[in-house]
Amino acid sequence: MSLLSTNISSVFLKSCFYNASGCLCVTKEDILKVYNSDSGAVISKSCTFSPREGNPKPRYFENKYGSINSMGMPNKGYRFYTYMSNYLLELGDSKPCIISVSGLDFDELLTMLSYIDNMVKRPEQLVEVNLSCPNIPGEAQVSYNFKKMDNCLKQIFSNKYKKIKIGLKLSPYFDPSHILEVSNIFKKYPLHFLTCINSLGNGMIINPETDKASIVPKKGLGGIGGLYCKPIALSNVFQFYKHLGDKLTIIGCGGVQSGQDVYEHILCGASAVQIGTQLVREGPRCFTRIEQELKEILIKKNIKSIKELCGSIHKL
Ligand code: DHB
Repeated sequence: MSLLSTNISSVFLKSCFYNASGCLCVTKEDILKVYNSDSGAVISKSCTFSPREGNPKPRYFENKYGSINSMGMPNKGYRFYTYMSNYLLELGDSKPCIISVSGLDFDELLTMLSYIDNMVKRPEQLVEVNLSCPNIPGEAQVSYNFKKMDNCLKQIFSNKYKKIKIGLKLSPYFDPSHILEVSNIFKKYPLHFLTCINSLGNGMIINPETDKASIVPKKGLGGIGGLYCKPIALSNVFQFYKHLGDKLTIIGCGGVQSGQDVYEHILCGASAVQIGTQLVREGPRCFTRIEQELKEILIKKNIKSIKELCGSIHKL
């Protein structure tokens, strides 16, 4: 075990941070950039049954506080990302490749999960089921419909899987009663991890150069990432860790730009942390910088491992 190493369920990561799904992970070229960086893992773009082009452009915009996106799930289809996981395994390095799967269509989701379980060569394949995409016109986020989410999980776990370890990517929740309610649903199922949080859905950012909405799809509404998200992300990590931290791994996502931001997510209960907007802005060298910053903080505070830090705010 080294200073920054961690586990997601039983899967080992040399370093506790990696890309957020959607960021630098649609094509083989992108995925290889993250794989060849100092990230601890690589996660794919959320995939659907059939490849998708996504929404019309412009569909991504950023300012100094964060980003807005309405990509509309452009991806190369689930078979491609299954192939990529096997391809990276054969490169020999033991870096985990997590497959993100869209939960928009339950029938497709069940088909994709069975296929991945049968085809992956890793003994343990992490799969992040994305129940929180805000950007498909006419489709509500599943994670805000608790009955539907419970039903989805019931269908998923009525199957037995050999290799895949399933976790969920969640929307931000803004009321502790909602977090308690969904935590009680999650307790019924053998989930391995929760990723908190996806983008803040249906925000709007005006482009100051044009006085118009900065992106085109959904009349300018899109998922907000970056610094705007950090307090909500920390609060969701903190609350889910309190309810479920003894049962599953919490992965933090939202507003991470520096080693201090990673540190705060882990303090609140994350075992690993994803980086989105800052990765798009800075490229994969952000992992090298953040690694150095985080190491310096841990050494200064005499913290010996991520495990020691994880959730320690709850012990005060
Ligand atoms: C997209 C955006 C998301 O926040 C998400 O979770 C999945 C997909 C998108 O628009 O592609």
